[in-house]
Formats: sequence, C-alpha cells, structure tokens
Amino acid sequence: MAKDVLIAPSILSADFARLGEEVRAVDAAGCDWVHVDVMDGHFVPNITLGPVVVKAIRPHTAKVLDVHLMIAPVDPFIAAFAEAGSDVITVHAEAGPHLDRSLQLIRDMGKKAGVALTPQTPELALGYVLDRIDLILVMSVNPGFGGQAFIAAMLDKIARVRAMIGSRPIRLEVDGGVAPDNAGACVKAGADVLVAGSAVFKGRALRENISALRAAAMAQAEGTCSR
Ligand code: DX5
Ligand code: ZN
Repeated sequence: MAKDVLIAPSILSADFARLGEEVRAVDAAGCDWVHVDVMDGHFVPNITLGPVVVKAIRPHTAKVLDVHLMIAPVDPFIAAFAEAGSDVITVHAEAGPHLDRSLQLIRDMGKKAGVALTPQTPELALGYVLDRIDLILVMSVNPGFGGQAFIAAMLDKIARVRAMIGSRPIRLEVDGGVAPDNAGACVKAGADVLVAGSAVFKGRALRENISALRAAAMAQAEGTCSR
C-alpha cells in the first residue's frame, strides 16, 4: 500500500484577477488541497490577501483550504481566517512568542493546526507542542515569493522532522521550489504533502503538471513502502 502523498497547488501563482475560476480549475485538474499564501508585508517582504479573499474562494471548492499565514502578530487574525472557511491554519513558529497559545486558538476554532518553519529554524522549536499540531510545514525557500529555487539542505530537515513526528498523526508538508525533479526526494525524506505554485501553474497545463508531480512523488512513495 503506497503512502498517500497529497498535492497542494499554491494559488499565489494563479491569476488573481480570476481567483474563483482558478480555484475551480486546480480542483478539476485533480489537486488534493488548495494552498493559500497569506502575507502581510511585515513578517515577509510581500503582501497578498486577507480573510475576505479566503471567504470569496471558499464556495469554489469543497477541497481542503490549506491556509499558510506568513503574518505577525497572528493571534488577532486566527478567528477571522477560521470563520472565512479555512480548514488547515498554519502559523509560523517565528511569528511570535506564544506558539502554544496560537495552536490552542486554532484548535478551539475547530480547525487543523499547522506550524511552519523558515529554513534557518531548527525542528526542535516544536518539541513541546507536538501534541497540539496536525501539520508541520518545512519551508524550502525563504518565505515571501513564488518561483524561488529549492534549498536542498531542507531535505535533511524534512527527515529529522519525520523522525520527530514518529507515529503521531501529523502531516509533513514541504513548500517552496517543489517540482517533479525534487518531489521524489521530498517524499523519500518523509514529506506527505507537496505544495507547488509555479510548477503547477506554468504553461497553464494544470492537469499535466499535477500528474507529473504526483507521478514523481508516488514513484518514490512506492519505493519507500516496499523497503
Ligand atoms: C512562499 C509560499 C509558497 C510559494 C510556492 O512564501 O509560501 O507557497 O507560493 O511557490 P513555488 O512552488 O513557485 O515556490
Ligand atoms: Zn506557502
């Protein structure tokens, strides 16, 4: 039985003038989740969207809205993103001093709680909150933009996070520069959710691009399971 690996297109690479259509398009093209990048121009040097946009795209897909909050402070906005229809709300470990409280807030809203680590942050930052987490996101680029190069050193961090997770029901997501040429290595290291923006939206061949990512991932997943 192959390990299930989920493909989550990042709509940061979509046409923002037609976001509802774009969400329906990646849904129809076979994605598993829809990854939504929220940037505030403070925690990261870019500004994207807020809860009102999450609310606007919610009716366009029944699939999981995987909301990646690159904002600081984060706690004042968690309720709004939850009420807007997010399913997974991921905060950055670096976003503030009270990660445990942020995770409790997300779970109290009935949502799945995720924690993201920027490339320099060690996985040990999560040691005491593992029981409050449903997903760990390993950034494989410095957050703030799509289309950046994958940082290969993050494969080791993915493997260490996988070991730290053990048998807990925690998803391990990798985000940034993911493409068919590194998707297999990400899965081999232990990732089971692959975020991809430019690799999915380039050339507008959404279904082919998602299938190529899934094929590269599953080829490795089956290899991993048979060993
Ligand atoms: C970057 C975002 C990523 C980004 C991925 O800060 O968190 O989700 O949109 O885009 P690609 O796959 O193009 O690196
Ligand atoms: Zn992201």
